[in-house]
Amino acid sequence: MLRLRYFKIFFLIGFGVLVLIQFYQPARNMDEGQVTPLHITEVLDIPVNVRQILQTSCYDCHSNNTNYPWYSYIQPGRILMEYHIKEGKENLNFSEFGSYSKRKQENKLDRISKQIKANDMPLRSYTFIHRDSKLSELDKIEIVNWVDKEMKKKVME
Ligand code: HEC
Repeated sequence: MLRLRYFKIFFLIGFGVLVLIQFYQPARNMDEGQVTPLHITEVLDIPVNVRQILQTSCYDCHSNNTNYPWYSYIQPGRILMEYHIKEGKENLNFSEFGSYSKRKQENKLDRISKQIKANDMPLRSYTFIHRDSKLSELDKIEIVNWVDKEMKKKVME
């Protein structure tokens, strides 16, 4: 019966930790959707359909404005989400795209195309829950075509 007692103790500790971490709610990544002159939509020509795709599928991790659904407040999901946002923004921040050098912008555009073609973005752990952020084949083609167009323009500049 000793085993059962240990099991109960572990269960209670585990449950206690789960309850306690619910109180950990770090500052949210939200700028109320402000569009500063550095925002990618102010720096590049983006067709409406592509804007929509980026907004739905990418901005949550790659901009200063995350759209948090109610379940994102439940831990430990929130900790994971905040980690993705921090890492995502460090790699590519659409809200501050204009602060990148021309070379860096080109490089990021190229990376976007590659990530989309390889089906690496949005992260799978994310689309698993945020179903609507999953890209359709048409979405992918539209993004890749837009990137190609922007890259050609950059070469001419
Ligand atoms: C759930 C959060 C999340 C979403 C949503 C997301 N990303 Fe990412 N993205 C990340 C993280 C984290 C990294 C850095 C680590 C890695 O590469 O896996 C990253 C890396 C990248 C990189 C690589 C940047 C570089 O310089 O190497 C590109 C490009 C990118 N994402 C594009 C996109 C695009 C385009 C979308 C939308 C279609 C998107 N991401 C959606 C989290 C996300």
